[in-house]
Amino acid sequence: MPSEAIVIASDHAGYELKEVLKQELTAMGYQVLDLGTGSTESVDYPDFGRAAAEAIADGRSSRGIIVCGTGIGIAIAANRHPGIRAALCHDVETARLGREHNDANLLALGGRTTDPETAKACLKTFLETPYDGGRHEPRVAKLA
Ligand code: RB5
Repeated sequence: MPSEAIVIASDHAGYELKEVLKQELTAMGYQVLDLGTGSTESVDYPDFGRAAAEAIADGRSSRGIIVCGTGIGIAIAANRHPGIRAALCHDVETARLGREHNDANLLALGGRTTDPETAKACLKTFLETPYDGGRHEPRVAKLA
């Protein structure tokens, strides 16, 4: 829903895709809470996974996007935080299932592994797909 702030963060390897996705979010009418990084200068992905997780934990945002080279490291970092369910997705199907089955609150993407058009499609699906609940509820509850 537009006016909602979507948190976004990346390391240097995800910076260029982050910028593409920021533009897409703005075009869709969302506010963007960009927690860096701000260039392709080398940084450490755990710092940015933690920043995105903290933004969700403290209520500045309810969901968001994280990007590193593969999406793996930044997803691992974010998932160390209570209440974070970061889903590493490579296509629309995994983005949809991450929402429907896992109630993912962070979409993790790889700037070196996912092309911009696929990433934009994943973003749209992630934002527009509701959680199924039902049989998934006790499983998601066990993650906590
Ligand atoms: C950075 O070179 C790269 O290791 C990082 O972006 C990420 O892919 C780690 O999982």
